[in-house]
Amino acid sequence: MKDLIIVIFGSTGDLTSRKLLPAISRLYKKNQLTKATKVIALGRKDFTTEQYLEYMSGQASKQLDIKTLSKLVLYHQMEITNLDAYQSLIELINKEKNEQTRELYYLAIGPELFPDVSNHMSISGLVSIGNLNQSIIFEKPFGHDLFSAKEINQMLWNYFDEKQIYRIDHYLGKEMIQNIMMVRFANRIFEEIWHNRTIKNVKIIVKETEGILGRAGYYDQSGALRDMVQSHLLQMLSLIAMEVPLTYFSDDVKDEKIKVMSHLHFDHNSLILGQYDGYLEEKNIPKDSQTETFVFFKAYVNTPRFKGVPFYLMSGKKLDQKESLIIVEFEETSEQRKWDLPLSTNKLYIKIAPTDGVGLVLNSKVPGLTGDVEPVELEYCIACHAFGNMTEAYEKLIIDIVGHHKTLFTRWDEIELSWHFIDHIKKYQTAPIIYNDYEELKKMIKDLTHEEMK
Ligand SMILES: NC(=O)c1ccc[n+]([C@@H]2O[C@H](COP(=O)([O-])OP(=O)(O)OC[C@H]3O[C@@H](n4cnc5c(N)ncnc54)[C@H](OP(=O)(O)O)[C@@H]3O)[C@@H](O)[C@H]2O)c1
Repeated sequence: MKDLIIVIFGSTGDLTSRKLLPAISRLYKKNQLTKATKVIALGRKDFTTEQYLEYMSGQASKQLDIKTLSKLVLYHQMEITNLDAYQSLIELINKEKNEQTRELYYLAIGPELFPDVSNHMSISGLVSIGNLNQSIIFEKPFGHDLFSAKEINQMLWNYFDEKQIYRIDHYLGKEMIQNIMMVRFANRIFEEIWHNRTIKNVKIIVKETEGILGRAGYYDQSGALRDMVQSHLLQMLSLIAMEVPLTYFSDDVKDEKIKVMSHLHFDHNSLILGQYDGYLEEKNIPKDSQTETFVFFKAYVNTPRFKGVPFYLMSGKKLDQKESLIIVEFEETSEQRKWDLPLSTNKLYIKIAPTDGVGLVLNSKVPGLTGDVEPVELEYCIACHAFGNMTEAYEKLIIDIVGHHKTLFTRWDEIELSWHFIDHIKKYQTAPIIYNDYEELKKMIKDLTHEEMK
């Protein structure tokens, strides 16, 4: 195991308190990180390390493991937009590192700061282009349209090699998302039936019960299409629709996902945009905002495998329950017609949140004297078998970065193609309908597409 230094830009923010520090302390306790690991937390506030950890404890929604973090964290006060400030950071890192040290630079800051920070990291000599011991990590939003996404990519390539760049869509770190390829390709029963002759439709659903949680500035510029569909939902769709990759190494998997994205078509007659009642009263939301907090549409993947199969994508806030899942529904059997019984279609549930798992809906005879039939679900709950030791997405992502594994990170061309698709949908954007509850939206979807959403 190489020694490790994680430098966090924006270390006083929400992402660091809720995700990064908990993931790092858990990995350290599980001996997944070397004992000599150091976390250099950068921020403008005048803190000692002790004061910083105390402050972050107050910010975090769940208790931080301060005992472990005290062994790892060094707080360094710094104005990251000031080039001169980088020399003291370099000196600090040089004191901690040796020639083999793995260096992770986590930009937990808003994208408006990326150009200055990337420039300063490069010009100051903190990071050298092509040094694969040094990785640059950042999170969505990767731009807000195709043009800005291209600009960000071009800007980053001025300073870093693509091999050094890790773009996080944390959904890809979730256990069940990683499991999609395993379920599809490691099970003969699915391998044989994964095509348009047996699959009737696919539903990709991400429902949230909460509103915008004070993130007005970001959310009102973004909306459900840019915030959720461009990243999480299209990633899920690609994993469901892709062909078998040549190998399971990162580039081969991404090459197949890219093919899906470049064959993706959207049915503009199916588009429903909604805004929850009360959105306009949220703090800092303009009174005339037309930002959508709900989106539904039908899309097609025009590959030989999936041509003609509708993919229903839906995501929204203030809905009936928090739930992320994919439902693959299969065609009726040819025998189905012979029975005068209300048979269900077979369905594969891929459950991502709140609990990860797989479910399979089959028809089965009701026990007893009658010949009645009922749908039964065979269910496997992953979390129930992890004995309280479920890995959080960020733990997996950090370990993969340390090990240079890029499969769970988005490549530049995936991002550009997904924005191309979203920009096209945006051309059909109209004023959102105001909704009070999910039942209204479900009815609207049924009237429009005859499809029953979960
Ligand atoms: N929070 C999440 O769950 C989440 C999820 C997905 C993606 N992201 C992305 O991750 C990034 C960070 O998100 P966040 O929620 O942690 O943001 P945040 O809570 O607003 O924190 C950002 C940090 O950046 C620093 N900062 C802000 N303006 C600065 C400036 N002008 N100069 C120097 N430092 C500045 C601040 O630190 P100091 O004031 O201490 O210097 C602040 O703590 C964003 O790009 C966000 O879109 C976040």
